[in-house]
Amino acid sequence: MLAIIGGTGLTKLANLSITRRQVVRTPYGDPSGALTFGEINGHDVVFLARHGYGHTLSPHEINYRANLWALAQQQLTGIVGVASVGGIRADLAPGKLIVPDQIIDYTWGRKHTYFEGVGKSVTHIDFTQPFSSSLREMILSASISLVDPVLDGGVYACTQGPRLETAAEIRRIENDGADMVGMSGMPEACLARELGVPYAILAVVANWAAGKNDSTQKIHLHAANEVVAIAMQKVHKILECMSGVCAV
Ligand code: HPA
Repeated sequence: MLAIIGGTGLTKLANLSITRRQVVRTPYGDPSGALTFGEINGHDVVFLARHGYGHTLSPHEINYRANLWALAQQQLTGIVGVASVGGIRADLAPGKLIVPDQIIDYTWGRKHTYFEGVGKSVTHIDFTQPFSSSLREMILSASISLVDPVLDGGVYACTQGPRLETAAEIRRIENDGADMVGMSGMPEACLARELGVPYAILAVVANWAAGKNDSTQKIHLHAANEVVAIAMQKVHKILECMSGVCAV
């Protein structure tokens, strides 16, 4: 079964026929909400709204450990994290979809590992390739029928938020090698890896990042919300087409 973590603009799945909801308690506290089980296009999926079903949790307030733990208790083939981002790279205009292949973590103070605390042995997971290549491929092949192709590969920079970045911060992040900037990819990606669950991000470009193109003076958030709402129709199509089993 595929798990979908919905971000901004995706608090529920339009094409999901819901079979049940389940409140899951974890040793790490409560997830952002109940897990929603159902079917899309005949395939079992479980859905979780990352920011809560009423979109009340900021990226730094999300209990990522509880979310990932709750999902990993299910019989999962993988987790697709849908996340909105600001576009830094010249081809990442608002409305584009992209499946990143690398990530840089600028967050701080988030609970980002299961390997801590009394009695836990020191564990270093490999994170050279942070995303599941087979799950990435699945997303990309599910998107093949879209008129505007989903872009394959790019570096996702994860900032702390909830404020957006300064233009200088984006210049620095770009110099670091990032192509897009979001606030929720970490620690989601590394926790999934610690749990051994295949994970990939389907990123929706909501706006130009601070200082880029029409965001030179400010980021127009109202326009960004509209862009995301339209792009989510493409996301729904992609999720409809996805099925199968993948490896980490
Ligand atoms: N910065 C960080 N996160 C984001 C942005 C941005 O410009 N747009 C959507 N999520």
